[in-house]
Amino acid sequence: MQKSLTGCRTLFPSYLSRTIMNSAPPAAFASSASSLQPSALTCTSLPPIHTYARSLQNHLHGKMFVSRADVIGNGSVSNPWPRCCPIHVKCVRQPQYKCIASAHLLFSSTSSSGGGGPTDSNPNDINTKLGKEHLVEEELEKEARELLRRATVTYMGSPCGTIAACDPNEANALNYDQVFIRDFVPSAIFFLLDGQPDIVRNFLLHTLQLQSWEKTVDCFSPGQGLMPASFKVHMVPREDGNGMEETLDPDFGEAAIGRVAPVDSGLWWIILLRAYGRCTGDLTLQTRVEVQTGIKMILKLCLEDGFDMFPTLLVTDGSCMIDRRMGIHGHPLEIQALFFSALRCAREMLRPGDELIKAINSRLIALSYHIREYFWLDMRKLNIIYRYKTEEYSNEAVNKFNIYPEQIPYWLVEWIPDQGGYFIGNLQPAHMDFRFFSLGNLWSVVCSLATQEQSDAILDLIEAKWTDLVGSMPLKICYPALEDKEWKIITGSDPKNTPWSYHNGGSWPTLLWQLTVAATKMKREGIARRAVEMAEKRLSKDKWPEYYDIRTGKFIGKQSRLYQTWTIAGYLVAKQLLRNPQAHDILTFDEDNDALLVETRSILQAANPKRRRGGTTAPKPPTTPI
Ligand code: GLC
Repeated sequence: MQKSLTGCRTLFPSYLSRTIMNSAPPAAFASSASSLQPSALTCTSLPPIHTYARSLQNHLHGKMFVSRADVIGNGSVSNPWPRCCPIHVKCVRQPQYKCIASAHLLFSSTSSSGGGGPTDSNPNDINTKLGKEHLVEEELEKEARELLRRATVTYMGSPCGTIAACDPNEANALNYDQVFIRDFVPSAIFFLLDGQPDIVRNFLLHTLQLQSWEKTVDCFSPGQGLMPASFKVHMVPREDGNGMEETLDPDFGEAAIGRVAPVDSGLWWIILLRAYGRCTGDLTLQTRVEVQTGIKMILKLCLEDGFDMFPTLLVTDGSCMIDRRMGIHGHPLEIQALFFSALRCAREMLRPGDELIKAINSRLIALSYHIREYFWLDMRKLNIIYRYKTEEYSNEAVNKFNIYPEQIPYWLVEWIPDQGGYFIGNLQPAHMDFRFFSLGNLWSVVCSLATQEQSDAILDLIEAKWTDLVGSMPLKICYPALEDKEWKIITGSDPKNTPWSYHNGGSWPTLLWQLTVAATKMKREGIARRAVEMAEKRLSKDKWPEYYDIRTGKFIGKQSRLYQTWTIAGYLVAKQLLRNPQAHDILTFDEDNDALLVETRSILQAANPKRRRGGTTAPKPPTTPI
């Protein structure tokens, strides 16, 4: 039996490319017995090991932590432990060692029973046993990793982000040569899960410096706390005239097409900050004064009082992933899901007793109630809307937003499945946007903005509507597309957003990662696995496009970039999560019974002025804890 990484390396055939990465200080493995049981392998040189995946904590504390085991022949790692099996072993230790020891170990036993598989002395046997598919997958991941490496940019000698697309044959980069905050998130999650947290840390700190006030659009400064949509590393002459130096140049939307403020950037930044802490165990970053200030500035901007009557965040069109006019102004679901998620992350990271916590708690309660109650749509609810009375003037109105049933689109009546449901895209006075938006729905599952039942129903709907939402390439950004007159009026005849293209019903492979986080959280990995298998057939052949077109998602998008980084990173994250499903918890939240919230809710109920006046009109309190 091979006992050490070094021994393993020498023995190991070259077709398994990843052997040992970043393994200093060297890790050694020793077998405490001649038995081939995995538990008999003990990692001898590691200090107490940090959590990489909570579910595998049992394997930690000095023991080898097996994050992936691919077994040839016998199909699964179980008793009897096969005579010969390459397994992928990952050990993650304290962040300060930056360490991942990753290796393929080859086990073989001359003494063991059963098996009959190939031995370490004959790697070719193993090669034949490695199904073609497995090798193709390995190759795909290898290619994706290399492409991601190429997309990485450095600032002052350290990696600090990945550019949006890195196509060597594309002369006109537009702004795809910049590091977009939202685009970097899947790259960051990949780096975190892969044991490369430094780039994420650098990114978080550099973007923090870019936050807020400097930029102006035609003499008007965006609100303090705004995070840029993207930034670029520029070379500029040094002030002292001695050569050139690097500088980070942010874009807050003042150069972006349509001049839209990226509301989602700050929300993603907070979400990523929490993920960094949870994955590395390094909480010193989030407790730093300037980081705490950064979180609070973002939140203050969001929690600011305005004219709005709803707890949802009011934004202009195109303020998130869909960054062009697509009829998503007002209270689009994607922003609400990210907002809710960021509030929960912030509550976890702010110093106990922080002045903002109370405001966060009340907003969380109101927001979740509003979305779960008014954005939810399934067969039952649709039938209620179908029979709505209108023009109800009173506090008891059932049809609070005065939705005319005539608004129910024809496609929806046919489309709504018997089982399953989803959150609609937007809700405003007298207006429901019934389109299905993937990111908003998936992220609602991830952060438990959706209740447990709603989360399952959303995944049920994705399964029931697989052909429409996944088709040949996961995943439609929204369904259905705006067509004809609607397209003209709502998009302003946008030639990039023609029906079933780009943001208007195009298919975006990057959404694979959000689908996988949601599916693994709900213990329904099969959904993600099926989608990943589908994407794998084409992504590399098609040069990792940004998006696909037409109803079925069969065509590479009309104006799609190739070698789009978040397509690549999204795929890598999905693969990592399928290998280690529990890792979703660096991003997810349970629908918990947080004592504080329960308490706050009762305080709020008691404090409701209408209640106190003895009215019967107080809004129904949330029925489910957040
Ligand atoms: C497109 C997408 C946007 C993304 C950007 C860079 O504009 O709509 O979400 O951040 O490209 O990839």
